Amino acid sequence: MPEILPGADFLSIAPGRVNLLGEHLDYNGGTVLPIAIDRYVQVAIKPGSQHISIQALDLAQSIEFDLDSIEEKVDIHGNVLPGWAGFPAGVAWVLNHQGLKVPGMQAAFTSSVPIGAGLSSSAAVEVAFAGAWQALGGWSLDRMSLAKLCQQAENEFVGVESGLMDQFASANGVDDHVMIFDTRNDSWRTEPLPPGTVIAVADSGVRRALSQSGYNQRRQECEQSFHLLQKKIPTIQYLADVPADDLAKYEKTLPGALRKRARHVVSECQRVNHAIDALEKRDTATFGRLMFEGHASLRDLFEVSTPELDTLVEIAGTLPGCYGARLTGAGFGGCTVNLVANEWASLFVTDLKDAYMKKTGRQAEVYLCHASRGLNVLKL
Ligand code: GLA
Repeated sequence: MPEILPGADFLSIAPGRVNLLGEHLDYNGGTVLPIAIDRYVQVAIKPGSQHISIQALDLAQSIEFDLDSIEEKVDIHGNVLPGWAGFPAGVAWVLNHQGLKVPGMQAAFTSSVPIGAGLSSSAAVEVAFAGAWQALGGWSLDRMSLAKLCQQAENEFVGVESGLMDQFASANGVDDHVMIFDTRNDSWRTEPLPPGTVIAVADSGVRRALSQSGYNQRRQECEQSFHLLQKKIPTIQYLADVPADDLAKYEKTLPGALRKRARHVVSECQRVNHAIDALEKRDTATFGRLMFEGHASLRDLFEVSTPELDTLVEIAGTLPGCYGARLTGAGFGGCTVNLVANEWASLFVTDLKDAYMKKTGRQAEVYLCHASRGLNVLKL
């Protein structure tokens, strides 16, 4: 690996993620099935600067800020911080608020997680910087607490009302395993990936336009659905608690869009339960079928797909060896995740690219991923 910061003391590495099933459930009290992937943000750090100075190597940009100027989101010269800097600055801001030491430092970082593609590049940056400051600051927090602080940075500093899934997966990833993360109580366990399969990620090439506002809007719609349904079913604590037959009974009281959002959430919870059962039984065909169903629900009920993502999923469904395909992450552009039999994987990659090019005139990047470990901080 090339040296990214001469004389660095630590290298903090945090992965991106794909979610196999359970989309838009992490802020509704549901269970999600992410894996951390072998695409990483790497931050090399050393102490020695009075300020926090960060080089974004991939963008050939650098910034310098300190704790006093963070609140105003400006650098030491009073210039507004560029968008990418909001993630490390947000983490510094949260850690500092928690009374955790955030020493001045020099940092340089690079990423193999594509930006804005729905693979949680921002969570990976946040978690990698949290790990870096932990190493340099000499304090220690468990990974769940670290992930929650990164989520807080995303919610309160960056302004995206995201759930905990991405930061959780980046911090806690486990080699070769799917994580089964219950966002109601933050408990989790793992299951091996479906045997004989590989994960292929297909990047539609369409960046996530409107993702922030669209995401926050979906979140509000879910909250509204929850409050309306709670009037009918007072025992529910989350939208994910609504039993399917109760939804059928009461959904008429919801305005059209809210009804669709609630249907997605309730049916996605059922799919996740079914998928966990399939994982335990090593029933790959069922797991894959649930992925296709999940996509249809995101397309028709949650309305976060795009024509390009739909095309990728449609093509994948016709290719040999493909068990399942769906959009992954928030939607509004970005990537699909595909579960493919090992022996068909390389043909799948070329066939999907070719067919997508024929249908849309667009180049899709398609690559195979492995479930990988989460945050890893190395002393150099
Ligand atoms: C984004 C958010 C996550 C989650 C997904 C949708 O990735 O950051 O918290 O809500 O969308 O499942």
